[in-house]
Amino acid sequence: MVEDVPTYEDAQGKATPWWRSAVIYQVYPRSFADGNGDGTGDIAGLRGRLGHLAGLGVDALWLSPWYVSPLADGGYDVADYRDIDPAFGTLDEAEALIREAHSLGLRIVVDLVPNHCSEQHPWFQAALTAGPGSPERELFHFRTGRGEDGELPPNDWPSHFGGPAWSRTADGSWYLHMFAPEQPDWNWENPEVRAEFLSVLRFWLDLGVDGFRIDVTDHLVKEDGLPDAAGHHHRPHPWRDQEGVHEIYRSWRKVLDTYPDDRAFVAELWEQDPGRFARYLRPDELHTAFNFPLLRSPWDARSFREVINATLHAHALVGAPATWVLSNHDTTRHVTRYGRADTSYGFDRAARHGQPVDLALGTRRARAAALLMLALPGSAYVYQGDELGLWEVEDIPDHLRQDPTWLRSGGLDRGRDGCRVPLPWEGEERPFGFSPERASAAPWLDVQPDGWRELTVAAQAGDPASHLELYREALRLRRTLRGLGDGPMHWHASTPDVLDFTRPGAFRCVVNLGQEPTSLPTETTVLLASAELVDHALPPDAAVWLREH
Ligand code: GLC
Repeated sequence: MVEDVPTYEDAQGKATPWWRSAVIYQVYPRSFADGNGDGTGDIAGLRGRLGHLAGLGVDALWLSPWYVSPLADGGYDVADYRDIDPAFGTLDEAEALIREAHSLGLRIVVDLVPNHCSEQHPWFQAALTAGPGSPERELFHFRTGRGEDGELPPNDWPSHFGGPAWSRTADGSWYLHMFAPEQPDWNWENPEVRAEFLSVLRFWLDLGVDGFRIDVTDHLVKEDGLPDAAGHHHRPHPWRDQEGVHEIYRSWRKVLDTYPDDRAFVAELWEQDPGRFARYLRPDELHTAFNFPLLRSPWDARSFREVINATLHAHALVGAPATWVLSNHDTTRHVTRYGRADTSYGFDRAARHGQPVDLALGTRRARAAALLMLALPGSAYVYQGDELGLWEVEDIPDHLRQDPTWLRSGGLDRGRDGCRVPLPWEGEERPFGFSPERASAAPWLDVQPDGWRELTVAAQAGDPASHLELYREALRLRRTLRGLGDGPMHWHASTPDVLDFTRPGAFRCVVNLGQEPTSLPTETTVLLASAELVDHALPPDAAVWLREH
């Protein structure tokens, strides 16, 4: 379509690091593709489908944890940071995957979980055995309880997954776990913990990974004395965003910088204050962080504009590129969010669960959101299945639910399983190619909706009206057009319900979040549209990429 513009590399210059503009695809290995037919996604399945990802046009893959784990929290409970869980494959297969991905031009970002490990981690097991007062227990947060017999937790902190953040051991001590009891928090005041993670970083860097996604980045350091949260009104919060966390990331950055090629960190940071957020992205700390305000925002032009402006402003202060995220393995898929009356995302999933969903509307908006996100300055994330227009599976039978949030909340929070349902690849019958034919077991979450028959990769491929081809074309154009990715943007005056901005290279993006069609600027050619245009006007809930003459 656009033949005569300079290539992305020409415009950006070879010196621009990839992570400033990359489109990164999140693989949740358990649900991506099952190579050996045991019903769980694995490295073999992923290797078999790398062609899909290279053909999609993304630049890198972020893999949710694949380490040895009892899977109490889908792998975010790591028992061995230097090996692969047998359910996913072997370390040799991981190395082969890294090599093959690289040969296809795809970088690999692995997930690092430093706040906590699995209760099965040998160091935690040793701490349990060694008993109170032992150096082994110093690696975690063990305390005596309150109350006459120490029968009450040492403080009032709640676990993010429901219930108290403390569990009691057989000898009557308590240990801290900000998430599930199977996920004891490391004590980052201990030098051995620090040294261990520097070594883990090196281990994966030596294997050739291009970066790390850091799980709950701001939780590592806790306030001295672990004070109660009630009545604690000053910042920072006792269990997150403590000042001491920054020196940890500075030490990690030093290690990373000793490796050749551009390697990078991306922080998981649910920090709402843009100033506090940006502090993690100072030049000697982390490179990028997920910017969740877009994901949380309702489908509303004013809110989107505010989020975009606040994001760009905060990142500019520290010279970091913004990132954009619409969905991930923890949140309700955006096709579903955008099809509800309340289109925002919040962690009060219980209240939102089961609200009526207009999937056609959600899908239409998801298409528009993809064009918006991919046109904004910085890098962008695609969660597996976003490119297929998958929706949240809300009617999972209770006995199949696995998320600890479901179990810990006594069934109040329906949890995150609905966005983790195995991907549909091809064919007319479930599991739609997720597992090979004649698999020995059904998929681990065997609830793919019938409607996904039309959303398999095979069903959508080659159909220009499909979600998949919209993503492919957008990603192809993004590589070709010189103004996209990192760089400036400029807003045009528009009616309140419309977003209208240009990027360098005469690129323009218009998104209509209103109820009426909006006429498009004259002297422009359409490059790609999320919905059919009528008389050069953009219908509601649609986006278009234009070239200005
Ligand atoms: C992060 C992960 C989430 C996990 C939690 C605890 O938020 O994204 O999936 O449950 O950390 O590790």
